[in-house]
Amino acid sequence: MENNDLSKRGAWGSKVAFVFAAAGSAIGLGNIWRFPMVVGQNGGALFVLVYILAVALIGFSVMLAELVIGRYSQRNPAGAFEFIKPGSLWKLIGYFGILTAVCILSYYAVIAGWSAGYLMKTASGSFKTSLTSELSDKIFTEFSADPLQAILFFLVMIGITTLIVSKGIKGGIERWTKILMPILFILIIYLAVRALMLPGAKEGISFYLKPDFSQLSGKLILFALGQAFFSLSLGMGIMVTYGSYISKSDNLVTSAGWVCFFDSLIAFFAGIIIFPTLFAIPGIAPAAGPGLVFKVLPLIFSKIPGGILFGTLFFSLFSIAALTSTISLLEVPVAYFVDERSWSRKKAAILVGLFIFCLGIPSALSSGGMAFFTKIDFMGKMDFIFLSLFLPIGALLICVFLGYVWGVKNAAQEILSGNPRFKLGPLWSFSVKFLSPIAILIILYFIKTIAE
Ligand code: PFF
Repeated sequence: MENNDLSKRGAWGSKVAFVFAAAGSAIGLGNIWRFPMVVGQNGGALFVLVYILAVALIGFSVMLAELVIGRYSQRNPAGAFEFIKPGSLWKLIGYFGILTAVCILSYYAVIAGWSAGYLMKTASGSFKTSLTSELSDKIFTEFSADPLQAILFFLVMIGITTLIVSKGIKGGIERWTKILMPILFILIIYLAVRALMLPGAKEGISFYLKPDFSQLSGKLILFALGQAFFSLSLGMGIMVTYGSYISKSDNLVTSAGWVCFFDSLIAFFAGIIIFPTLFAIPGIAPAAGPGLVFKVLPLIFSKIPGGILFGTLFFSLFSIAALTSTISLLEVPVAYFVDERSWSRKKAAILVGLFIFCLGIPSALSSGGMAFFTKIDFMGKMDFIFLSLFLPIGALLICVFLGYVWGVKNAAQEILSGNPRFKLGPLWSFSVKFLSPIAILIILYFIKTIAE
């Protein structure tokens, strides 16, 4: 880290390149798979409202905090905190982030594998026009409970991720994200329109968009906050790393704003696809859990003209969106071993990838593949510990570091470069110093009750 030659670190070609890369990391399973799932489990529209507030008031501030730490220090997370506060324990935030990224990737890639499996199924015409909710439910349950398929597709996703990360990301994935993300966007809008046209879609829209305030609970707020951090790729240093490649002449505030906006928009549209379909073709409960999207989407593909083609295209892009996120997750530990332990990129990617594959096997077997892991809901536990607990803790530490150790004034100085008329200062300062840490602390305090 000490002999970091900053001129050789590289940088994003433009602000747009950063927004696409960061949006590529942010947009993934969290938007298409997890967002509708937690909305369904937490009663619908009120969750959506709390989520939007969490992104606007807290997520955006934390993203700006991470980006500014990254751009100022021009280092990986472990190095960044050390650079700003040398010889202190704040460096541990970086290690905490690395641990979180490894553990999240271990089950994230299992679900990415489901997406790859569903790509095969859709392409091979498994979902016929006669598909019913019951049958779709059965197909998913059998698929995810088959240990061989669950592990195989998980291995495929981890393998591709490892390969790409081992070769460096720039020319390949960065270029492709720029092309594929807009296609995913157009496809999502098309499917949302088709879902809205299904007879009986109204009920789904009212579940999704008409809040019932009696549903407000600590659990709902915790899940909304955890989902916001996860979906925006916050709390583990990804945005510190990505921020470290942003040019000093770029506007950090609008960059963060665009990433938050695109990420929320895709999640919002995913809900517009899922809930009208769910209510129009009854048989699957909104609270169906991890299988929700996989049970519902084939229903819409089996009902629209050209469904096989659309379904195949959709699951291809869904898998690619997942892949641009798994790459950024693997990049966190790999960058650490390359920067701080002087491992070669290839060695780091292969060893970490292998480790994550072993760590993910219990998650792959926890949807029916093995009785023990299914009974203890291993994947659900991983999700709860690392996503609902560790990400908010990571975000809390970042806020405290920026607000009280480095200082908002120093950070604002960095933001002024590229944004000389930075006006959000007092609001952002309030969010980073008080609102975000207090909200996170309250939630963490009640976590035992929330977890039941
Ligand atoms: N934000 C990604 C998603 O919504 O799917 C998941 C993720 C990727 C989280 C990278 C954290 C991260 F560092």
